[in-house]
Amino acid sequence: MALNIVIMAAGKGTRMKSATPKVLHKLAGRSLLAHVLKSCEPLDAAARIVITGHGAEQVEAAVATPALSFVRQIPQLGTGHAIQQVVPALLGEGTTLILNGDVPLIETATAKALVDACAGAALVLLTVDLFDPTGYGRIIRDADDDGVLAIVEHKDATPEQRLIHEGYSGMMAAPTAALKRWVGQLSNNNAQGEYYLTDIVAMAVAEGLPVLGIKASSETEVLGVNDPVQLAQLERAFQVSQAEDLMRAGVRLADPARFDLRGTLSHGQDVEIDVNCVFEGEVELGDGVRIGANCVIRNAKIAAGARIHEFSHIDGEKAGGASVGEGALIGPFARLRPGAQLGAEVHIGNFVEVKNSTLARGAKANHLAYLGDATVGERVNYGAGSITANYDGANKHRTTIGNDVHVGSNCVLVAPVTLGDGATIGGGSTITKDVKPGELAVARGKQVALSGWTRPVKKR
Ligand code: UD1
Ligand code: MG
Repeated sequence: MALNIVIMAAGKGTRMKSATPKVLHKLAGRSLLAHVLKSCEPLDAAARIVITGHGAEQVEAAVATPALSFVRQIPQLGTGHAIQQVVPALLGEGTTLILNGDVPLIETATAKALVDACAGAALVLLTVDLFDPTGYGRIIRDADDDGVLAIVEHKDATPEQRLIHEGYSGMMAAPTAALKRWVGQLSNNNAQGEYYLTDIVAMAVAEGLPVLGIKASSETEVLGVNDPVQLAQLERAFQVSQAEDLMRAGVRLADPARFDLRGTLSHGQDVEIDVNCVFEGEVELGDGVRIGANCVIRNAKIAAGARIHEFSHIDGEKAGGASVGEGALIGPFARLRPGAQLGAEVHIGNFVEVKNSTLARGAKANHLAYLGDATVGERVNYGAGSITANYDGANKHRTTIGNDVHVGSNCVLVAPVTLGDGATIGGGSTITKDVKPGELAVARGKQVALSGWTRPVKKR
């Protein structure tokens, strides 16, 4: 039986007070709409349709995939009007699942439960018991058999109906053929002058079709985002649940309330993460990795036993774009940029920046340095204040540093340049020519000593 998944995302989201369409606001690094799409991805659907309207071009461009189609609703005259627009695109005789683009944390299991309970034959509503149901459509049940009779919108509800705490979540599964018929009969004769999708419930009841209410597993999964306050509340709820999953899997978080994951974090055993760390994109942490407080780590692989000290920033840009070898020590205050590939036991200290460079086992750059477009051999010691001058104003060039090279402090390695194995560079040198293995290269003004020198004195 064919399943259509319809996601309503045409609304304006006025209360966000933003130029960005509401469904494109981000929760844990991913748009609200992308969360909904991800939740329903495992469901086997014949069609996946997003209803766009406000900011349609931007929304469509942000989430477009070959598996998705878009139907525009302009102007937006209510949820029933939204579904009217989609009727010609609905496939088959089976089930249509209707989700909301601004309710991001709907669980796959819940969406599946709605579809299964519908089976193309019943109208199934996802409902939720709310402490404060203000603004929600109320589920009106039969006093005798508790069956669902109707949904009454908050603005149309009587004072007695407003006392009902069971609200409609905005999500339902309906038999496709009946849905098409019902939405054709909607009117906008109500408090808001809108076409309410929720009016189909009374139509189903009148036709004698079974109407079921399924209760959501948590309030969080049906909470919508209407303003920045609600967005931040859902973000926190989501972060806490991710943090708890990680802790249950053995990760030791100093404080789950001060942890942010905007992507995926895979990990080995005995990983420790101190407070205020942010992980983005795809991050892998090997066994025994310890991350100090206030680190931001994006698209990076950190191998077993490595230690990332406080206030370090690692950004691989894309998955696997930065890597740190086993037992390496990074930071505090280190910056690893895209293409930083560090071997085992590498040490990168404070205020050291590494970009598009490979450092072999045991290489060290401990203080105030820049390595860009460089290949660095094993056990190299790269002195404080030294930099690779990799950019000539037009093009980037590589610096190659052999094994066991010692680069003194405050050196400028003007690329392209190669330092042979075991070479030594005297502090303060500006190196513009290759240095052969084992050589000492010094390129700086010679020291001059004048004896009997008297310092100038101030004129009176
Ligand atoms: C709707 C329900 C209400 C339910 C509540 C849950 C109706 C009539 N009411 O009310 O029973 O308790 O959700 O949050 O359905 N949208 C469109 N086109 C439109 C209008 C809305 O695509 O013309 C989309 C919105 O972008 C949003 C969703 O539909 O994703 C819900 O719209 P919203 O205006 O928030 O409906 P509510 O009035 O909150
Ligand atoms: Mg709403």
